[in-house]
Amino acid sequence: MTLVNLLGSKWRLVLSVLFICIIISELVYCHKDAQEQRRSPGKKAKTGKPKQAKAVKKGPLPVKPKPKVKAPMQAQNLLIQVINRGKFLKVGETISVHAGDTLELRCRGKPVQWALPSYLEEEDEGRLRIVQHERYGVLTLINTTGADTGEYTCYPMFCEDTDCRKNYDKAIKVFVFFPDPQELFVPSSDYYEVIQLRSNWPTRLPCQVTSPAANVTLHREFPPVEVAVDGTEISFNVKKGFTIHRPRPYHAGALYCVANLGGLRQSSTKYMLIYVNYPMAPPAPIIQASSTSLTAGDNLRVSCTVMGERNVAVEITWEYPGQQIGRPLYTLESINSVGGGATGQQIQSILLVDEVRDVDQGAYTCTAENLQGSKSVSTTVKVLPKAKPPKP
Ligand SMILES: *[C@@H]1O[C@H](CO)[C@@H](O)[C@H](O)[C@H]1NC(C)=O
Ligand SMILES: *[C@@H]1O[C@H](CO)[C@@H](O)[C@H](O)[C@H]1NC(C)=O
Repeated sequence: MTLVNLLGSKWRLVLSVLFICIIISELVYCHKDAQEQRRSPGKKAKTGKPKQAKAVKKGPLPVKPKPKVKAPMQAQNLLIQVINRGKFLKVGETISVHAGDTLELRCRGKPVQWALPSYLEEEDEGRLRIVQHERYGVLTLINTTGADTGEYTCYPMFCEDTDCRKNYDKAIKVFVFFPDPQELFVPSSDYYEVIQLRSNWPTRLPCQVTSPAANVTLHREFPPVEVAVDGTEISFNVKKGFTIHRPRPYHAGALYCVANLGGLRQSSTKYMLIYVNYPMAPPAPIIQASSTSLTAGDNLRVSCTVMGERNVAVEITWEYPGQQIGRPLYTLESINSVGGGATGQQIQSILLVDEVRDVDQGAYTCTAENLQGSKSVSTTVKVLPKAKPPKP
C-alpha cells in the first residue's frame, strides 16, 4: 500500500489547511515587523497625530501643547463598555453580558478596527453595528446569544496620510461571556471535531463555555471515564478550554467536555483526537534518473528518495515534461524501515516512463512534503532521436 493512499484525502486537507495557517501567521508577523520598522523611523514624520498619541502615552507633552489636548487618557480607558446609555464601565480582561442583552463597546482611536469571534464575522442578521465617531469607534451587538461568546479586539489604526495599518501593539482585547441559561457551551455546527494531537505541540480542546462560572470537566467516551486535569499535563482555562501540553499516543480517542452550572449539566461537541508523529524538519528528497541522456524508445526510471523518521507521513508529487499533454506515466511507491533500529524509514517514489519520446525531454521535479514543509529537487533528461537502422 502506498503512503499517499494511506494518508487519504482528509490528511491532505489537514496538510493544506496547516500550510495556509502557517502562511497566514507568517503574513501577520511580517506585517507586524514591517509596521514596527515603519514606526521607529516615523519619529521624524512631522504629522501631529502620532506625536500627540505618543506624548499622551509617555505623560506630559514635551513640546508646545495644542489647544485641543484634553486630559491625558489612561491606557485602560481606551476600551469601555457602555451600559444603559451614558453609564460607562472600564473593561478588564473579561466581561459578562446576559444572553439577550446588548453589548456596546467604545474604543478610543480614529479610526479603529475590530476583530470578533469568527462566528460573528459572518453575522448577517443585522444584529451587529459598527460605527466610527470622530474620536472613537462603537461596536453594538443586539439580541445576543451564548454563541457570541469570545474575544473582541479593538485595533487603533496607525495612519500616514491615507495609508492606515492596524496598530498591533496597541490592540485591546476583552473576552466577553454571554451566560445563557439554556446553553452552557457555545453551540457548534459540527457533531464532532477532528483534532490532531501533534507530538511536539500543545493541543487545545476549545469546548468554550458561555459562562465563566460553569464547572467544566473532561471525559473520555470509551472507556467512559473522567480525564484527570492536573494543571500540568492537562490544564483548563475558561477562555481557552482544555490544553494537553505534551500530547502522547494515549491521549488519542474521543473526548468531550461536561459543564455544570446551577443544576444544569450539558455535554460539549465531541473531539476526535488523532495522534500524529510530527517531523523534526521538512523532508530532504534526493532525485536520481536511471540515465540523463536516452535514445527514443528507451525506458526511463526516475527515483525520489526521502530518508526520515519512522511513522512520519511524507507525500511525494511529481512534475514532468509530458504532463501538459497528459502523457500517462506511473509511479511505484515504497516505505522501508532503515538503520536496524526502529527510528528511521526510507520513502521512495519511482516514476517510470516506458519508451521515451522527444516530449519526455526536460526537467523532472519531485516534491516531498511533510507537516513541517516541502522541498523540491529536479534533474534534467535528454532524449536523442533513434538512429535510423542502416539500409540493407
Ligand atoms: C431582536 O429581538 C427583537 C425581540 O425579539 C426582535 O423584534 C428584533 O427583530 C430582533 N432584531 C434583530 C436584528 O434580530
Ligand atoms: C464547582 O466545583 C467545585 C468543586 O468541585 C464546587 O465547590 C463548586 O461549588 C462548583 N461550582 C458550581 C457552579 O457548580
